[in-house]
Amino acid sequence: MKILITGGAGFIGSHVVRLFVTKYPQHTIVNLDKLTYAGNLANLTDIEHSANYKFVKGDIVDAEFINQLFQTEQFDSVIHLAAESHVDRSITNPTEFVLTNVIGTVNLLNAAKSIWAGKTSNSIFENRFYHVSTDEVYGTLGDTGLFEETTSYDPHSPYSASKASSDHFVRAYFDTYKLNAVISNCSNNYGSHHFPEKLIPLSINNIKNNLSIPIYGKGENVRDWLWVEDHARAIDVIFHNAQAGSTYNIGGHNEWKNIDLIHLLCKIMDEKLNRAEGTSAKLITYVTDRAGHDLRYAIDSSKLQRELGWKPSLQFEEGLRKTVDWYLANEEWLNNVTSGAYKDYYDKQYN
Ligand code: NAD
Ligand code: TYD
Repeated sequence: MKILITGGAGFIGSHVVRLFVTKYPQHTIVNLDKLTYAGNLANLTDIEHSANYKFVKGDIVDAEFINQLFQTEQFDSVIHLAAESHVDRSITNPTEFVLTNVIGTVNLLNAAKSIWAGKTSNSIFENRFYHVSTDEVYGTLGDTGLFEETTSYDPHSPYSASKASSDHFVRAYFDTYKLNAVISNCSNNYGSHHFPEKLIPLSINNIKNNLSIPIYGKGENVRDWLWVEDHARAIDVIFHNAQAGSTYNIGGHNEWKNIDLIHLLCKIMDEKLNRAEGTSAKLITYVTDRAGHDLRYAIDSSKLQRELGWKPSLQFEEGLRKTVDWYLANEEWLNNVTSGAYKDYYDKQYN
């Protein structure tokens, strides 16, 4: 079986690629990535020479290229993670998000449909189109309640609106063309190889460099944090076992107010950097709130736990400590992604 993974050079995608390449030597894994600022082949150096792994540089917005690639490679299945993923960037440049997240997804759906038309599936994951999405499509919760698979879509940011739109297209291709599609909507991930613009890696990087930690608004917004490798495991389980047309929510049952999370992170960083307790917390700076800032995300993942037996493996403080350890041990990675040096290097290699 030849499986296309899109966005495999990014944060979550690199963990999914690593899991599939090492766990399924009998399958060929093709990683298609444009290598934007967020995608980086240094995330995959440990598996880049594996016999069952291949990298293709390309843009999912380029329909002609995508159709040609599918015709040539004849992929059996797709796991689609490529996206513009940062809410703040979507506020400054929404069109980029429409192009990659909506048009790019539709290009992949069309290409998959055209090579799989008329094929009958022998196994549940043969010719599967797996779309990786976010809990942000559901909008925001108040103080109580959880997002369920049946919660109505109510996106508030250009990012979540573009992901919601792509989810609708994937469902429409299942309903209209019987494409073997599945979707999962996951809460906020954390772990290694996360580009330092999102809350946790940005804060680690800033604390390390004695820079201020920007907290939007009052820091009272709540996110449900999941260890990225648990997300990759969930994707594996869903890819192999879900019924066509189904949706699963994935979450950590791990809600944190931003300010409480940052205080825990500051405590860990003080310990790891041998700084006096309270040193890092002095860097906390309250800044203007994000426009349209969703108050609270929290996931009910009981369907996934009940039907497919998945559950999160790591307790949050342990995961956060491991994450900090990774960033402190990988200073070169951090410097090269923030300076753009990796991007320049890989652009030269693949252009
Ligand atoms: P990321 O920004 O780290 O990685 C995205 C990857 O997609 C990068 O490697 C980038 O180069 C690639 N890419 C972007 N535009 C492309 C294009 N036009 N053509 C080909 N490749 C392109 O994102 P992530 O955090 O790893 O998220 C991966 C997926 O998971 C996204 O679909 C995102 O919506 C979803 N998701 C993320 C989270 C989270 O907490 N990060 C939570 C739930 C769902
Ligand atoms: P982020 O990591 O951007 O993920 P998302 O917006 O997709 O949930 O942000 C997580 C939370 O942290 C969110 O409530 C916004 C907040 N935040 C800050 O307070 N300061 C920051 O510098 C960033 C990037 C985020």
